[in-house]
Amino acid sequence: MTSRMDPADVGTHGTSLQGSVEDMVLVSNREPYRHHHDGEDIAVDAPAGGLASGIDPVMQRMEGTWIAWGDGEADFEVADDDGQVTVPPSNPSYTLQRLRLSEEQVRGYYDGYANQTLWPLCHSDTGRLTFEPEHWERYREVNQRFADEVLAHADEDTTVWFQDYHFMLAPQAVRARVPEAFLMHFLHLPWPAPDVFRVCPHAEELLEGLLGTDLLGFHHPRYAAQFLKCVDQLVDGAVVDWAENRVHHRGRATRVGAFPLGVDADEISWTTAGAEDAFWTGFRDAHGIDADTTTAVGVDRLDYTKGIPQRLSALERLFEERPDLRGEFTYIQKGCSTRERIPAYQQLREEVEDRIAGLDERFGTDDWSPVVYTTEMYDREELFSLYHHSDLALVTPLRDGMNLVAKEYVASQLDDDGVLLLSPMAGAYDQLEEGVVEFDPYDASAGAEAIEQALAMDDDERQERMRTLRHRVHDEDLSAWMDDVLGTASEVHASRTEASR
Ligand code: G6P
Repeated sequence: MTSRMDPADVGTHGTSLQGSVEDMVLVSNREPYRHHHDGEDIAVDAPAGGLASGIDPVMQRMEGTWIAWGDGEADFEVADDDGQVTVPPSNPSYTLQRLRLSEEQVRGYYDGYANQTLWPLCHSDTGRLTFEPEHWERYREVNQRFADEVLAHADEDTTVWFQDYHFMLAPQAVRARVPEAFLMHFLHLPWPAPDVFRVCPHAEELLEGLLGTDLLGFHHPRYAAQFLKCVDQLVDGAVVDWAENRVHHRGRATRVGAFPLGVDADEISWTTAGAEDAFWTGFRDAHGIDADTTTAVGVDRLDYTKGIPQRLSALERLFEERPDLRGEFTYIQKGCSTRERIPAYQQLREEVEDRIAGLDERFGTDDWSPVVYTTEMYDREELFSLYHHSDLALVTPLRDGMNLVAKEYVASQLDDDGVLLLSPMAGAYDQLEEGVVEFDPYDASAGAEAIEQALAMDDDERQERMRTLRHRVHDEDLSAWMDDVLGTASEVHASRTEASR
C-alpha cells in the first residue's frame, strides 16, 4: 500500500526536474478555494469534486504557485493587490494567484467554448456541439491572458503544469516566449476519435497548442492513443513515433502518456473512521429512511455525461419488476449544481427533478420514497459518511474521463461491505473491473439486473470484491499517481537535456 507522501519525498526521481518541482506553476480554470460573504464575515469553501479537489493535496506537497480564475464573490477582498492569497486557509502552504475575468470573457471562454464546444466534443457528444466565433475569440484571449500570467511567474527553470481542456492553446503561447521552460499538461476528460475531433473547425490549432508541451497526460491509454491518432491525421507536418508515444513537430518533441489519477485513499479512510454516526442518523431522520432500509447512493455533478436519467430509468424498471423492493430499498441521489447558466445543464437538472418526482408519485408510499434527492453541500466527513453507510453505489456515466466518486466510495468501505456498480464508460473501469458490478447506462433492463445482482450478493462475495477494490484504490492512489507523472516528467526532462547537448 502506498503511504502518504511528505513534501520532502517529492523529487526522489533524481534528475534535474527535482530542483524545479519546487518552482512549480500550476494552471487550472477552477480554483481550489473560493471566498464568499457569510453575513458580516468572509468564509471559504472548496469547490466540490473534479480536478481542483483532486490536485490540491498534490500542490500542498509541492508548494509553488497555482494560477486560477478567481470567481468567488469575496476572492479579491482577501487577496493582496496582485490577486494572491496563501492557501489552504487552515495551513497555508502554497500561493493561489487569482485572475479576474470579465463577464464577456466568462460567457465566451467558460460558458461558451470550454463547456459548449470542448466538453461535448471530448465526450463524443456531437449533438450538443456549438461553434460560435465569439466563443472561440474569448477562448483564445483568455488562454493568452493565462499564458501571460504564467510568464510573469516563470523562467526557463520553471515547471509549468496546465490542467484540463480550458487551456489547450496556452502551452504553445508560453513555449513561444520561454522555449526552455518545462511544460506539462493533463487532460481530465476523455479524448475522442479523429472522426469526432475533426468536426471542430479549430481542431488543428487546438492540437498544435497542446503540442507546445513536453509531456501530455491522460487518465487512460485509450485517450492517449486517440490523441496520437488525431495528431497523425490532423496536424500538418507532425510525425508520431508510435513506439515511444511521442510526437515530433516543429523541431521539438511531446511525450504522450496515460496516468490514471487516484484519490488520497488513506486520508479518506481516516476521515471516514473518525466521522461521527450522527450525520447518518440525522440524514436518515431528515429524509424518512428507516434504519433497516437498504440504500444505494449516487453523487454527481448535475452533468449530462453522468447518466443520471438513465440510472433513474434502471431504477424505475427495477421497482416495476420487483414490487417486493418497494419500501425496502431507497436510492439516494446527491446532485451538485454545475455550469448553471448553460441551457443543457438547466434542462438536465429539471429532467432529473421531474423524473425523481415521477418515481415518487408512481411507487412512493406515505412512509417510503424510492428516491431521496438532495443538493445540499456536505463536507468531506459527511460525504464519506454517506458513502460508508450506503450499501451500494451507482456510478453510471455515459462517458467520463476518470470518475473519482467511484474510488472515494471504495476507500470509505472500511468494513469491506459495499458494492460498487460502475459503467464501463468511466475511465476508472479498467482499474476496478475485477471487483465491480458492471452497469450499462444505455440499457435500463441490464441496469435493473445489475442492481438486483448487487442486492442479492452474499456476504463472502461482497467482501471479497470490496477487498480487491480497496487494495487497488490504495495501491493506485494519489501518491502513486504523482510518482508516476513526476517520474515520467523527470525522464522526459533528462532526455530533453541529453538531446540538446
Ligand atoms: C470536470 C472537469 C474539471 C472541472 C470539474 C467541475 O471534472 O474535468 O476541469 O473543474 O468538472 O466543473 P466546473 O465547470 O464547475 O469547474
